Amino acid sequence: MSSIKPVRKAVIPVAGWGTRFLPATKAMPKEMLPIVDTPTIQYIVEEAVASGIEQVCLVTAHTKKAIEDHFDRSLELEALLDAGGKTEFADQIRAIADMAEIVAVRQKEAKGLGHAVLCAESFAAGEPIAVLLGDDVVYNEGTPCLKQLIDVYNETGGSVLGVQTVPHENICKYGCVDGEKIGDRLYTVNDMIEKPAPEDAPTDVGVLGRYVITPGIFEKLKATKPGAGGEIQLTDALKALAKEEKMYAYDFEGRRYDVGDRLGFLEATVEYALRREDLAAPFKTYLKSILTK
Ligand code: UTP
Repeated sequence: MSSIKPVRKAVIPVAGWGTRFLPATKAMPKEMLPIVDTPTIQYIVEEAVASGIEQVCLVTAHTKKAIEDHFDRSLELEALLDAGGKTEFADQIRAIADMAEIVAVRQKEAKGLGHAVLCAESFAAGEPIAVLLGDDVVYNEGTPCLKQLIDVYNETGGSVLGVQTVPHENICKYGCVDGEKIGDRLYTVNDMIEKPAPEDAPTDVGVLGRYVITPGIFEKLKATKPGAGGEIQLTDALKALAKEEKMYAYDFEGRRYDVGDRLGFLEATVEYALRREDLAAPFKTYLKSILTK
């Protein structure tokens, strides 16, 4: 499949209201919630860059300015840190702005994930896109999650959904894949069902916030009628695309956290802190001490 276009562009929708995390998200984007000391969105952009992505499009809203600012230069802060001899911090702050070419488009109303992706049509300009949800973080010491999906796209030329097998009772929280297992971690996608009741779910294979999608998705999104909650669902457009093109699901390696959910956020905070050289030992001692009380 040498003629397929490479995946150079990523779309990260960050325009949702984050109602599951109120009141924190009343005036602050949930994508800026820090895991230890780094905003969630930064982990996601770092994963995209480590996967070979060159351009990132943030689909934002008027309440999300802090996200754009985070990836911009902060000349005053850099000067202050340099003058105070804190060059290590100054370099760190500069590096965030230089990570990738980042642009932003506005989703003027939060009309769903599918609508958010559609807002990035001109950015995609006929190329395949990676889509990473702005509140889903995947930790993996080996190949980054998105890179695993891009590798499958490069072999097959088809759209690839990042999936994992979830506990049966939890499939109602995810898009569910109906398909055949054709390899160690690979499935074909015949159909998809958004958040099915466990008894109606054909499999326990759930879609978890990472996608590589061919350009045909935009025509499907335009034809998609608002579904549950009046939102334009990405799942509905993907279902339509799967009827016309080969589509795959890949059971990626990595620990995934739903940071937009309270428990998911706490799990991410604890586990990332335990992975940090500067924090692991004292934090472990602290956790042991409160758990034995
Ligand atoms: P979620 O469904 O988790 O986001 O969408 P939400 O609607 O903000 O969350 P809750 O359920 O109210 O707590 C996943 C990602 O898609 C973005 C969100 O910002 C999040 O990063 N999104 C969602 C949009 O950009 N636009 C939308 O209309 C909906």
